[in-house]
Amino acid sequence: MTDIQSPTLPNPALLIPVNPAIEKYMLGLLSKTDHPVLTAMENLARERNFPIVDRLVGAFLETLAKSINAKRIFEFGSGYGYSAYWFAKAVSEQGQVICTDGDPLNKAQAQKFLSAANVWDKVDFHTGMAQAIFAQTEGTFDICYNDVDKGDYPEVWQMAKNRIRPGGLYIADNVLWHGRVAMAEYEDVVPGWTEAIRDHNEQIFADPDFDTFINPTRDGVIVARKKL
Ligand SMILES: C[S@@+](CC[C@H](N)C(=O)[O-])C[C@H]1O[C@@H](n2cnc3c(N)ncnc32)[C@H](O)[C@@H]1O
Repeated sequence: MTDIQSPTLPNPALLIPVNPAIEKYMLGLLSKTDHPVLTAMENLARERNFPIVDRLVGAFLETLAKSINAKRIFEFGSGYGYSAYWFAKAVSEQGQVICTDGDPLNKAQAQKFLSAANVWDKVDFHTGMAQAIFAQTEGTFDICYNDVDKGDYPEVWQMAKNRIRPGGLYIADNVLWHGRVAMAEYEDVVPGWTEAIRDHNEQIFADPDFDTFINPTRDGVIVARKKL
């Protein structure tokens, strides 16, 4: 895993897909999602410049999971559990969110936050390389969610696509990479990451077994539904 993380605040020279004033308006509509644990997680992200998906995308993930009655979700790259908070809220009491992260400190932090939010019992958090943990985990999933280092995006898509149930979803964050995917010249965060994201996106849109769209909110969220 690479230490360098995507910037929470995009370089002003880069493209911001949705006008910040519009995102602010949309955030204002989400006040019913307020929760002290959520605010604490968001504050920690600001303090550490840690790249959580943030609230607009979190609410989108919850809506997607509820819309397909998701019960079993696999997260590639969980950080300290912010995206898992939304997925865990969406699944029923019997549901499960399998989380993965390379940093054991993130698991400890996630346990604190998600216990305080009363959803830790729906979470199965593993420390290590997400791809290896996925390979060791049996069965199919309602949702595979990808938020690992961007150079690994094509590999994760290839692994995940065959283990999503018909009608299930593949979701990945940061697929617009602050506009770099649409630019002829750009400064990459890590050499090769923009090309990897482009390759990932093109593979998914070309796959005849999936219906795919990118929601441009924040840094772009790809949603691919496996056909029935
Ligand atoms: C963008 S952050 C995840 C944020 C999280 N989804 C959220 O919204 O709160 C990426 C995380 O994935 C971890 N990571 C990156 N590549 C990984 C990999 N291949 N396997 C496991 N963890 C990985 C990093 O340590 C980091 O904590």
